[in-house]
Amino acid sequence: MAIGFLLFTILALASSLAYASDPSPLQDFCVAVNDSKATVFVNGKICKDPKMVTADDFFFSGLNKAGNTSNPVGSKVTPVNVNQLAGLNTLGISLVRIDYAPYGLNPPHTHPRATEVLVVVQGTLYVGFVTSNPANQNMKNKLFTKILYPGDVFVFPEGLIHFQFNVGKTKAVAFAGLSSQNPGVITIANAVFGSNPPISSDVLTKAFQDFCVAVNDSKATVFVNGKICKDPKMVTADDFFFSGLNKAGNTSNPVGSKVTPVNVNQLAGLNTLGISLVRIDYAPYGLNPPHTHPRATEVLVVVQGTLYVGFVTSNPANPNMKNKLFTKILYPGDVFVFPEGLIHFQFNVGKTKAVAFAGLSSQNPGVITIANAVFGSNPPISSDVLTKAFQVNKNVIKHLQGQF
Ligand SMILES: *[C@@H]1O[C@H](CO)[C@@H](O)[C@H](O)[C@H]1NC(C)=O
Ligand SMILES: *[C@@H]1O[C@H](CO)[C@@H](O)[C@H](O)[C@H]1NC(C)=O
Ligand SMILES: *[C@@H]1O[C@H](CO)[C@@H](O)[C@H](O)[C@H]1NC(C)=O
Ligand SMILES: *[C@@H]1O[C@H](CO)[C@@H](O)[C@H](O)[C@H]1NC(C)=O
Repeated sequence: MAIGFLLFTILALASSLAYASDPSPLQDFCVAVNDSKATVFVNGKICKDPKMVTADDFFFSGLNKAGNTSNPVGSKVTPVNVNQLAGLNTLGISLVRIDYAPYGLNPPHTHPRATEVLVVVQGTLYVGFVTSNPANQNMKNKLFTKILYPGDVFVFPEGLIHFQFNVGKTKAVAFAGLSSQNPGVITIANAVFGSNPPISSDVLTKAFQDFCVAVNDSKATVFVNGKICKDPKMVTADDFFFSGLNKAGNTSNPVGSKVTPVNVNQLAGLNTLGISLVRIDYAPYGLNPPHTHPRATEVLVVVQGTLYVGFVTSNPANPNMKNKLFTKILYPGDVFVFPEGLIHFQFNVGKTKAVAFAGLSSQNPGVITIANAVFGSNPPISSDVLTKAFQVNKNVIKHLQGQF
């Protein structure tokens, strides 16, 4: 009995670790109640009394209607997530319809909590996504693009910056599934340049087993999710050990900060365990520029100096609201949380150097430095796409791309 329960618990834990996005549901369904006047807040939404649930709670009508694309970017996303369809609560999935005017753009954005799989039903789309910052400093954020015709399907991996551009003379329509009841959207241009309050211009201008120790796979011919495990018999305490985070990183670079990571690439024992660590050094007035971790929430503690830190929420459901900026001045001993997938930064506002450590909820959190991914990808994102996304003239975009 006790062993059975333990086994059940281990299996439940292992299966929950297998999902990187929404938590697994804990019952058949949990239809969301209308919480517009809620005084209690939970992860997701509070469940309606299961006795009161009807088929209509799992039903939505209206995705046959085209969205109104009369707006500066010429596209419109019509979402069907837990806010429109209460039955999606806790189920880890949602849907959108996207309409594109001729040459309309769904501008560069990320879904902090979801992978997206898109099918074109009408028109011709040029689509792409940019990988997160490569481990090798000499490599670039890589752009993967494709021209899609009706019936074509494309996947945008979780948390990565992606876009769709209608390259045809006629309108286009696509549908997409997303792996979260509430995927969130961060439109890069809005979050970086249109937050409320604005990000300081100073910031913007600096532009199943106990373990599975990773084998060194630098010559691997087989690739798995994460890394292949070393024979458990060969594992020693040193596989769980790393030395060197006492050394300051070299901050002699244009932004004046240096992140020293200790993730599965430096510490093989972290493989499959869902956590990693970094040390961050900041020169006086050094900046850790706006970036996201596609696979991790970050909790940071300041050990020296004074940091101005912040993060920006994803696009609000209400189009009259703005991406909200949350900021704080941190002194030694202060702790701050940057929620998974959201754009955040730290700026040393003191005359002396600063040091922080941070835990991240992934063995390999990934980093997308917004400026590098958007303006410095290889090959570059078409300036037509960026001109429309940022609503500035082509020279401004060419200038920004020239910085990388
Ligand atoms: C929730 O209730 C409020 C009023 O209490 C109403 O305005 C709103 O439309 C409702 N939302 C949904 C999704 O039914
Ligand atoms: C579409 O949006 C534009 C701009 O907001 C508005 O002027 C127009 O009336 C809308 N068209 C329809 C059919 O709702
Ligand atoms: C992995 O092996 C390669 C050579 O095969 C070596 O250059 C590299 O440093 C090793 N990586 C680690 C983390 O031990
Ligand atoms: C720090 O980096 C700069 C620029 O790359 C380099 O010139 C300098 O020698 C480095 N300092 C140390 C102590 O490694």
